[in-house]
Amino acid sequence: MKQKVVVFGSYVVDLMGRTPHLPVPGETVKGSFFKMGAGGKGFNQAVAAHKTGAEITVITKMGRDSFADVALNVMDELKMPKDGIFFAEDTETGIALILVDENSSENEIVIVPGACATFSEEDTERAAELINGAAYVLLQLEVNQDANERVMKAANQCGAKVIVNTAPYSEVTDEFLAGAYMVTPNEVEAFEMTGVEVKDFDGACRAAEVFHQKGVKVVLITMGSQGVFISDGEERKLVPAFKVNALDTTGAGDAFNGGFLTALSEGRNVWDAAVFANATAALSVQKLGTTPSMPTREEVEEFLHSRGIKE
Ligand code: RIB
Repeated sequence: MKQKVVVFGSYVVDLMGRTPHLPVPGETVKGSFFKMGAGGKGFNQAVAAHKTGAEITVITKMGRDSFADVALNVMDELKMPKDGIFFAEDTETGIALILVDENSSENEIVIVPGACATFSEEDTERAAELINGAAYVLLQLEVNQDANERVMKAANQCGAKVIVNTAPYSEVTDEFLAGAYMVTPNEVEAFEMTGVEVKDFDGACRAAEVFHQKGVKVVLITMGSQGVFISDGEERKLVPAFKVNALDTTGAGDAFNGGFLTALSEGRNVWDAAVFANATAALSVQKLGTTPSMPTREEVEEFLHSRGIKE
């Protein structure tokens, strides 16, 4: 049985340019390709979860402008419920400037969150109503943190498990971490939050211990091509990543978190959910863009089948 899940987080418009190399300060480089599309970690994760089959409500905030239409059109196309969309009357929709190196597929991102960093107390009270009955609530660190704190409190009060994707890294309080059932940092964020370098399995175990001591039940560290480290406080394992040729890795973490949420909402354990999430991410990096690169359920199942994994 599918459980209801919620993503509370950012929506911005991604302005993505591909370039022969990433410019150094003061340098102008002629790019080769431009694409505008829906982005923001919250929105990307919600789209990934929706497309891979979750019963999802996305709660985000945008301006009353044409950049908001980019998301609303995607939601219409994908038949996503819009009851969690809030509008700012006097702040514009945020944007992200994304440069992708067409040779290495490395990227550089500057995000200006705009409207999605203006969640008010009234907004989070409405968000709390939408969260009621959800099994999991997924947060990131791209919106105003006071709103994340209020939403976490509301989620915990109604019995939902809170997953915090700690991206992009920002300082959070120990109280906030203690309210998280699970955290999903990458190696860099894990280092920034714990002070422990995560280069290998041992480093991941030590970083996980710091999170556990702060009250987090499950720690999942995405380690790029090495795969995903998971510790539930008793067992510790590395779930290997799938090898694919990456075209654009922007949003791979969002694809992972969205796919992971879908699998959890279907009652899978964290280890099996990580395999499903790895497949979601592996498919997303083979396409350009963030939201447009999120795979469908059929694509994930076909991919897993092609790798000899039975769904
Ligand atoms: O994780 C990728 C996302 O980060 C992009 O879509 C961009 O909007 C930034 O928020």
